[in-house]
Amino acid sequence: MSYTIQDVQEELSVVGEDIEKYIRLNKIKVAKDGSLSEKSYQTLLDLFSDQESKHNGHKNSKPVYDLIRHKIEEKQKPVFESQDQRISLFQDDAISFLKSLPAASVDIIITDPAYSGMNQRLKLGRGKIIGKYADAGKNGAKWFEEFHDTEENYRAFLQQCYRVLRNNRHIYIMFDSFSLLSLAPIARDVFEVKNVLCWDKANIGLGHYFRRRHEFILFASKGKRHLNSKSIPDVWKIKRVTASQYPTQKPTEVFELMLKGSAEKDFVVCDPFVGSGSSAIAAIKSDCKFIGCDTSEKAISVSKERVKEFLKTKTDLYQKSSLLGDDETMTKLFFEWQL
Ligand SMILES: C[S@@+](CC[C@H](N)C(=O)[O-])C[C@H]1O[C@@H](n2cnc3c(N)ncnc32)[C@H](O)[C@@H]1O
Repeated sequence: MSYTIQDVQEELSVVGEDIEKYIRLNKIKVAKDGSLSEKSYQTLLDLFSDQESKHNGHKNSKPVYDLIRHKIEEKQKPVFESQDQRISLFQDDAISFLKSLPAASVDIIITDPAYSGMNQRLKLGRGKIIGKYADAGKNGAKWFEEFHDTEENYRAFLQQCYRVLRNNRHIYIMFDSFSLLSLAPIARDVFEVKNVLCWDKANIGLGHYFRRRHEFILFASKGKRHLNSKSIPDVWKIKRVTASQYPTQKPTEVFELMLKGSAEKDFVVCDPFVGSGSSAIAAIKSDCKFIGCDTSEKAISVSKERVKEFLKTKTDLYQKSSLLGDDETMTKLFFEWQL
């Protein structure tokens, strides 16, 4: 794929002359016909975003968020935006939403996609899997609409994640055991995969071939970035949400731990599969900004209600109490070590 100077201009909202200056100064390769390869394009965006950070004197400077806001307003309005404009929710498809964001505009991606593989292939009993069917998605999806596990679709998703993520930043993507084997390897082509973490749910769930008690979290980076602490283990024992009001709702603590590892105050956190909004609650608790989307109307109405109430009263309507179990390291991480 190749890009033109105009593509960069549109992406960054800067004038062509500035871009040409950057190309000359940084000796970025340009083809004879003036086009840029994927690599040159990405290098240019990264350099520009680094320069912008320095110019603004702080890497979490508000203008970057304003830039997102400006772009968003041109394209679509959020379904929900908090009064202080730090939290925005959109009803959209993950790839189309990410495409609507400018390059290098978010500081961390924490997400839990609705993979179709596990649901379609690992059926129990008479073909049914766990969960309520009231909110079934289109095309035979069991609970909500699923994100199709084709390599092409997943690669397009990862490439958009890479594009919107600022340089020297982290991404966390949740995986079930099925999608880990089929899709996670593609992440290596796009990001620097650093580790695969294990979320130990403490209690067993359903499953014919060993009862399921864990999920995976792929941890990767764009560029170089250390974790905030060297004391976080790669197995996270946090209890599952029981009797959840939204299918597949995750404990906020799982997302909080990702942010403890990789975020700073005022980071723009992005979750393109927001579901019930657990990642948004984690972002608020960690003093971060948040931008997220979901295709489902139900998810957006649940997360909107949840975020609004949490901002107003600090009450989490969908997770009434802490899901930290008796694991000493987890308790220490949460209670003795503040971000
Ligand atoms: C596994 S759930 C996320 C649950 C969430 N982490 C929580 O704690 O509530 C995945 C979500 O992805 C949404 N979804 C499915 N296909 C999507 C797509 N193409 N783009 C964005 N969201 C999608 C589903 O509606 C569902 O809410």
